Amino acid sequence: IDPKQIRNLSIIAHIDHGKSTLSDRILELTKAVDPREMREQYLDSMDIERERGITIKAQNVRVSWKDHVIHLIDTPGHVDFGYEVSRSLAACEGVVLVVDASQGIEAQTLANCYLAIEHNLEIVAALNKIDLPAADPDRYAAEIDKILGIDKDSILRISAKTGEGVPELLDAIVERIPSPSGSTDAKTQALIFDSYYDQYRGVVSSIRVVNGVLRSGTKIKFMQAQAVHEVEEIGVRLPATTPVSELGPGEVGYLIAGIKDVGEARSGETVTDFNDPAPAPLAGYRDPKPMVFCGLYPVDGDEFSDLRDALTKLKLNDASFTYEPETSQALGFGFRCGFLGLLHMEIVRERLEREFNLNLIATAPSVKYLVYLNGKPDTVEVDNPSELPPVSNIAKIEEPYLKISIITPAEYVGTLMELSQQRRGIMQKMEYISPDRVEMVYRIPLAEVVVDFFDQLKSRTKGYASLDYEADGYQEAELVKLDVLLNGVPVDAFSCIIHRSKAYDHGRKMAQKLRELIPRQLFDVPIQASIGGKVIARETIKARRKDVLAKCYGGDISRKRKLLEKQKEGKKKMKSIGRVEIPQEAFISALKLD
Ligand code: GTP
Repeated sequence: IDPKQIRNLSIIAHIDHGKSTLSDRILELTKAVDPREMREQYLDSMDIERERGITIKAQNVRVSWKDHVIHLIDTPGHVDFGYEVSRSLAACEGVVLVVDASQGIEAQTLANCYLAIEHNLEIVAALNKIDLPAADPDRYAAEIDKILGIDKDSILRISAKTGEGVPELLDAIVERIPSPSGSTDAKTQALIFDSYYDQYRGVVSSIRVVNGVLRSGTKIKFMQAQAVHEVEEIGVRLPATTPVSELGPGEVGYLIAGIKDVGEARSGETVTDFNDPAPAPLAGYRDPKPMVFCGLYPVDGDEFSDLRDALTKLKLNDASFTYEPETSQALGFGFRCGFLGLLHMEIVRERLEREFNLNLIATAPSVKYLVYLNGKPDTVEVDNPSELPPVSNIAKIEEPYLKISIITPAEYVGTLMELSQQRRGIMQKMEYISPDRVEMVYRIPLAEVVVDFFDQLKSRTKGYASLDYEADGYQEAELVKLDVLLNGVPVDAFSCIIHRSKAYDHGRKMAQKLRELIPRQLFDVPIQASIGGKVIARETIKARRKDVLAKCYGGDISRKRKLLEKQKEGKKKMKSIGRVEIPQEAFISALKLD
């Protein structure tokens, strides 16, 4: 294909602003999909995606429009996958920005537009849902003009639902988005911008050829991974996968090369010809780094090896999460896992439970601290509270920060300022993007955001505020390790690293909660919260004799035996710590955040 005929673009939209519906309309209009086979949200495939209505795995599809080939490259919509968004954008010359004409632009969309601008991409903006009575396209066109500098008269008005304005949008794509610039004669460089693991075919990667030609059957080299493979199949998605013999500059398609682990074909990888390699890989490759950590344990200890198998399998499909074995005195054998962000953590956990039929306990999420030891030049990275060195050895601790951007209706500014300040955030910017909508920017510790910040933001603003974040370095803070002791013995699953100003409150709450959750024992049980050996809160569970036979009057011996059997069963589900019998549910409830 002549590169002049090609347009590569990605649709950027906030959740529910209509990206999937628009993609469906485009597939229909370009006759890529037989109307009889058309089902809603054709491109979203994973179950969890459909249910949550978010796109996790990028897909891409080739359509034809008036002698031109358009590749629609799907970008993941969530901030946790920012690096993948950036890689998908690197495969495009332009983006279509879709904004709901009754809602206006949201924080994540704005952040993705800034990314697009950084990549020098052409932005074609469209206000969607103009069929809605509540639509106010003039107002939101002015807003987009003000914050992104896109001329409001150039903004298209469409309804992805009725199809109105969609042909004009396709025309605008062909007119305004530049064609790719690569050359057939240059040495081969192709960018992988997504990979997933297929049970039958191994790793299937989405690929964009930048220079040269990628041919079926040739030996190729993965420049960052330093691995050599053979092209088993290359092809395009129409959207049905269709093998081709070669892909030239600007073309987007898929690559199968007998790879068994997506970690070997990561987003950002450059593929070149093994026998005639390019001198350098394409710019911008980065190893995705986990930011949020937690322990995952099977509720039933017998499921430990099932959990290990499940993690191994899931890892084939998601190179960005990490895991290593960990033991907890309270929870038994499990794994310490690392995730790109909170949503990523939820997705992995849900997939483990759902696709592998496991029942899991997760410890409270934590972040990665940098610990400076006395008299030593090196720092230690600690993402697990139980691995924090003794206080006496610590010179200082630094914690990770985020820069967050919130877009909210002006009436909620007060409550959001309060929330951000409670979470130790420092305001950096506040700007009215239209008379009644505000963008606020804060620098805030990641640890304060991982614990229900997003839920708070949503509930305080009735769902109207949106949030975006990016990592913003490390900073020293007064952090302490808080332990919870039962009958004098620390319970590892409840330990946490926390800012000193919040330790007392947290310790008191934990102690109170546990007093309610743990059943009475045959003796008094003290519950203590302590910092570095100093007790800061204490509760006591009063003794009670648990006499299961009390209910049986008379001499029904078989009934008595049954009750004793039942008690024994129940004991198996108990964990014993400091001679205290704790039911499994108590751990689960105590670890749930309130
Ligand atoms: P995610 O897949 O969750 O990112 O959402 P999305 O941006 O793909 O939005 P989706 O296409 O699922 O649309 C969200 C909702 O808006 C659905 O209920 C659509 O039917 C509706 N919708 C999309 N476009 C239009 C439109 O032009 N008019 C009206 N009235 N509704 C629309």
